[in-house]
Amino acid sequence: MSFVVAIDGPAGAGKGTITKLVGEKLGLVNIDTGATFRCVALNMIQEHIDIQEEKNIEEMLNKIHIEMDSDGKIYLNGEEVTNRIRENDVNDLVSPVSVLPVVRNKLLEVQRNIAKGKNVIMEGRDIGTVVFPDADVKIYLDATAEERARRRVLQNQEKGIECSYEEVLQGIKDRDKRDSTREIAPLKRAKDAIYVDSTNLSVEQVVQEIIEIIKKKA
Ligand code: DC
Repeated sequence: MSFVVAIDGPAGAGKGTITKLVGEKLGLVNIDTGATFRCVALNMIQEHIDIQEEKNIEEMLNKIHIEMDSDGKIYLNGEEVTNRIRENDVNDLVSPVSVLPVVRNKLLEVQRNIAKGKNVIMEGRDIGTVVFPDADVKIYLDATAEERARRRVLQNQEKGIECSYEEVLQGIKDRDKRDSTREIAPLKRAKDAIYVDSTNLSVEQVVQEIIEIIKKKA
């Protein structure tokens, strides 16, 4: 038996930060499902496979091995790729790759296997709707597009990346539209998910609110 907490929501809502902190405080294994899509995109780059080459993608997926350890390190076919999957070439490819049915079907199996027999907190876009529709706790973490853009600009500044607020905001709006209107497993709030709006909350406040929700359900 395992206990599953599903955290879904749009890009930039703070899922990664919050999931990590809540997982540490409650002793839940943190599973970042976005990283599994990033591994597929990286594997395509490594094998020079184009997004149109469905047959080659299928063959690659038949051989793929994605693992996560308890420290949050990610392994693709035995090689550690934790930082590599955050680089720009992967950022650019991952969104179109994540809409391919063959990829989503394969990763559904991978994600369920990674969680098997463990108490997990899993973040993504479709965890409470598709991957674990019977999750013990479902949370939809949101924030306004403007606030998410503001956070992204700050993050970029910290990394020394130049960008304009307007550009980032438009990018977020475009991505929201793409993620929520795609045919398979679109980003949407599960009927039984608890809505948490982080727009005016600090990280610590969101963590506290989510911990209380989980404790009530446990
Ligand atoms: O959260 P992230 O930026 O690492 O996600 C990478 C991409 O994967 C993003 O374009 C959305 C997609 N994704 C998805 O479609 N379903 C998930 N459960 C997680 C991520």
